[in-house]
Order: sequence, then C-alpha cells, then structure tokens
Amino acid sequence: MSIKLMNASGCHCTTLKELLELSRQPLCSTIVSKSCTLYPRCGNSHPRYYNNENVSINSTGLANEGFFFYLSMVPIFEKIKKKYIISIADLENLDKIIIMLNNYSQHMNFEINIEINLSCPNIIGKGQVGYNFAEVAKLLKKVFAKVNLDNINVGLKLPPYFDVDHFNKMSKILRKFPLSHITCINSLGNGFVFKDNFQKAIVPNGGYGGIGGAVIKPIALANARRFRLLLKDTDIEVIGCGGVVDGRDVLEYKICGINTVQIGTELYKYGPSIFNNLDREYKYELTQYKVQYGDHLV
Ligand code: DHB
Repeated sequence: MSIKLMNASGCHCTTLKELLELSRQPLCSTIVSKSCTLYPRCGNSHPRYYNNENVSINSTGLANEGFFFYLSMVPIFEKIKKKYIISIADLENLDKIIIMLNNYSQHMNFEINIEINLSCPNIIGKGQVGYNFAEVAKLLKKVFAKVNLDNINVGLKLPPYFDVDHFNKMSKILRKFPLSHITCINSLGNGFVFKDNFQKAIVPNGGYGGIGGAVIKPIALANARRFRLLLKDTDIEVIGCGGVVDGRDVLEYKICGINTVQIGTELYKYGPSIFNNLDREYKYELTQYKVQYGDHLV
C-alpha cells in the first residue's frame, strides 16, 4: 500500500539548483521538470505567483531554461537512479524536439521519459489543446508515428475535465496510443484571486491564471479517479495531481487507485522537506484507516 510522491511540474523544478535539491530527497520518488520550450523563456512579469492557505494562482508564462538544459539533466538522474520526466509544452516545436530526443536516446543509450503538456493555461491567445479532442488525436498520431518507443516513454499532462462525456471521449482517444502515463490534473485555467486588500493577486494576463492548492482537490480527485477507472484495462498509469495538503489527501488518492501523487502548491510553500511530512502523515493515516476499515482499500 505504498505510495510514490513526486513534485508537480512547475514547482521546484525550473533551475539546476531546484532540480538537484529535489534529487536529494529520498521520498521524492520521481522528478518532473518545469514545462519547457525548445528555447529558454523569461516568462511573464512579476508578481506571477500567489498563494494563501486555500488557493494558489500562477501565470508564470512558461519561464524555463529551454529543452536542452532539461535534456542535459537526463544523465545526472540516470546516474543516481532517480526517475526523471521532461515536461514539454512547446507543441509548435514538438517535431524538432522528438527528432532530438530520438537521436539523443539512441546515442546515449538512455531511456527517456517525457510528458507532453496539453494543458498550459497561460499562453495568451492560445487555448489548451487538451480541450480540443480532434487536435489531441491528431497530435498523438503524429507523435507516436515519430517517437522511438524503444527508448522513449511518452505521457501527457491533462487539464481538468468536468463533463462525463468529455472523460469518455478523451479516454477513447488515449487508449489508442501506447502512453506511459497521464497526469491528472493541471491547474484550473484562468481563475482569478483577490488578495486581502482587493488587489489582483498576480499581474500578468489581467490577473487571470492557473488555480491550484486545496480548493482544487475535489476536481483533481474526480479526474484521477474517473480516468483510472476508464483506463483500468490499459497499461497507462494515472498520476494524481491537485490539492494535496496532508497525508489524508494522499490516502484519498490511494483509495482512488492512484499509486503516484504529485505535490505542487505545498511544495512551493514549504520546499522539498514537505515530502518527509507527507510520507509520515500518509503512513499514520493508512494505519488509522486499516484499524477502522480493514486491509482493503476501496
Ligand atoms: C505554466 C503553467 C501551467 O499550468 C503549465 O501547465 C505550464 C506552464 C506557466 O505559466 O508557466
């Protein structure tokens, strides 16, 4: 009944320093990079992140060190035997990125894990591809026609869905492809938060940004749980992400059949020591659960 904890993309995973700090956390089982573009980006103007006890909002604008930097981290994680996933948001340059990944993995003889981010809500003028089912199907067809599956595992970061029909449609598409995993969910796009003084919490994009933190847990759990059930007979792992504040939250994901849970807002708030706390709390909650309900997780 063990659970794997990891960071959520965007949290403590942009710079070399942050990635190395995560790599030193034994209880951070896997590390996913900041969603990257082919070339580095400075991102949006500050303040672009805000959180209080219930909610976070961000419009980072894909500030990242560029694909080559995140690729160059592969041998480092390979050496310490830590699973590492490169998150890629640059759909316009995906063809080029896949060619480079194919070449790199062949020459280095490394297995590479990537996650294609279909759900960045903060690129002004661009919708989230994950909400356009025809586009998703087209993109996956193209990706899987090109990518060298012997050496590269391909997962997806999905936006939150709210309609049963959308879950069914999306699962029908996903099950056609040999995906390694899906991460459910990305932040809730285009939310708005006031600070105590009624100023908007972040500056870019008129104050609108991706919502995370405790408030998104019911949506995140619903998405992870539904996809887990809909994809039960496939090899696609469902990674849970959203609203984890304490060990009880981690247990709730586990009860939904989720074996890997990502930590975003709380990692941002407290830094990598959060993994120790959550692991300890999860173990306590699991013991209490077993006393009350027995060994069986529903
Ligand atoms: C950003 C935000 C996201 O939620 C995401 O998935 C990718 C990038 C950003 O603003 O940088």
